[in-house]
Amino acid sequence: MIQLYYGTDTNKTDHVAQNVLIPMLKEHGLDIKDKVVAEIEADDWKNHDVFIIGVPTWYYGDLQSDWEAYFPTLQKIDFTNKTIAIFGLGDQWGYDEWFVDGIGILADAMIANGAEMIGAWPNEGYTFQKSKALKPDGTFHGLALDEDNQWDLTEDRCQQWVNSIAPELKRLMGQGSEVDNLEEKA
Ligand SMILES: Cc1cc2nc3c(=O)[nH]c(=O)nc-3n(C[C@H](O)[C@H](O)[C@H](O)COP(=O)(O)O)c2cc1C
Repeated sequence: MIQLYYGTDTNKTDHVAQNVLIPMLKEHGLDIKDKVVAEIEADDWKNHDVFIIGVPTWYYGDLQSDWEAYFPTLQKIDFTNKTIAIFGLGDQWGYDEWFVDGIGILADAMIANGAEMIGAWPNEGYTFQKSKALKPDGTFHGLALDEDNQWDLTEDRCQQWVNSIAPELKRLMGQGSEVDNLEEKA
């Protein structure tokens, strides 16, 4: 079962997770268990291998409050052999020097502890000055959403992102197509 963990202060990430991303992932036949950060237990990271993480950015480049409180714990977790896709909400006009920084803060910490990230996302279609979420190749570590200014793009962005990661998620969950499975055995 894929684990989707998210934090939310004003429920925008909750809305995107519950009403947009989870239904889209389920349409691909993927089983999802979701939790808010406060419900994460230490063994969750040991007992599962595939995670989707949702993080809004707050207060000039900070993590959302629950992720902020959880961060010291997260920095001690071994993410070796774990695959993680991350999405984040931000406000590219109001906070253009810190746009979706939370994506970058969590991705960097998880990568440092061995995680394999999937679901990098192009930076076209946004206007901002700086973001810690950008990789050296200019793509975001994960899906960047802006419910404050570009809510009308959220659904399409989510659909494209889900379509792009679904084949890999299915493969990891042993739900790959017959062709994928044969290729793996070869
Ligand atoms: C006081 C405040 C500070 C914020 N700081 C940032 C920021 O530094 N970077 C950013 O991209 N978005 C920032 N935002 C925008 C939020 O990330 C955005 O509204 C998000 O959708 C909130 O998600 P949530 O309701 O799930 O908490 C800020 C919003 C507020 C109200």
